[in-house]
Amino acid sequence: MRRTNLIVAEVLHVLKANVGVGVTTLDLERIAEEELKKTSARPAFKGYRGYPWCLCTSVNNEVVHGMPSKRVLNDGDIVSIDFGAFSDGFYGDSAITVPVGSVSPDAARLVKVTEESLEKAIEAAVVGNRLLDISASVQRYVESHGFSVVREFVGHGIGRELHEAPQVPNFGLPGRGIRLKAGMVLAIEPMINMGGPDVKILDDGWTAVTADGSLSAHFEHTVAITDDGPYVLSML
Ligand code: MF3
Ligand code: CO
Repeated sequence: MRRTNLIVAEVLHVLKANVGVGVTTLDLERIAEEELKKTSARPAFKGYRGYPWCLCTSVNNEVVHGMPSKRVLNDGDIVSIDFGAFSDGFYGDSAITVPVGSVSPDAARLVKVTEESLEKAIEAAVVGNRLLDISASVQRYVESHGFSVVREFVGHGIGRELHEAPQVPNFGLPGRGIRLKAGMVLAIEPMINMGGPDVKILDDGWTAVTADGSLSAHFEHTVAITDDGPYVLSML
């Protein structure tokens, strides 16, 4: 799983370096395709329940599952790039949110708090904790900064399938849920809104946007629980 997730991390690293004013989300899709060709991996999302792209590119008020298009990234936007791959029998899954040009202080803070909430979640992904200790860590951190946690989408177990049990919510009560054991691998993915937590799905059947139009950010890592602590498989 480390091999697959390293490919995911490398592709996201290249994509991040290519984000800029005037770039389209379809440009990012093409770059991901080119990068993938250099590897043994295939895209994980393309064909999944009919999803047509390698990437999910979700801009500003889009929460997740935004689709690459000729939409041009503008100064001040934030774009979440979610990418999964399959190789050697195993899946990898990771997402980042990247500022385009110079963003407002509020947008920058949303991105930072969302990334930090994932770090808090990872710190809770240790043997002996319970699943919702991870969830509660995200919720506590995010809400203490005045942002809200999306409820409709959750993280997931990952391995030989992209989505395995258990679901990993980003909200919940500490001390609940299954006990975490060495060898479990979770895709932890906080989706955080600047305004209220509610989302709606656009007519394309995929794009989730905030109900109130506020900005949303998303970070994801594939994390193995080991006796030596959390191993972030999707980190370079
Ligand atoms: N990171 C998301 C997930 O794990 C991406 C899924 S997009 C889909 O659920 F197209 F594959 F559904
Ligand atoms: Co995922």
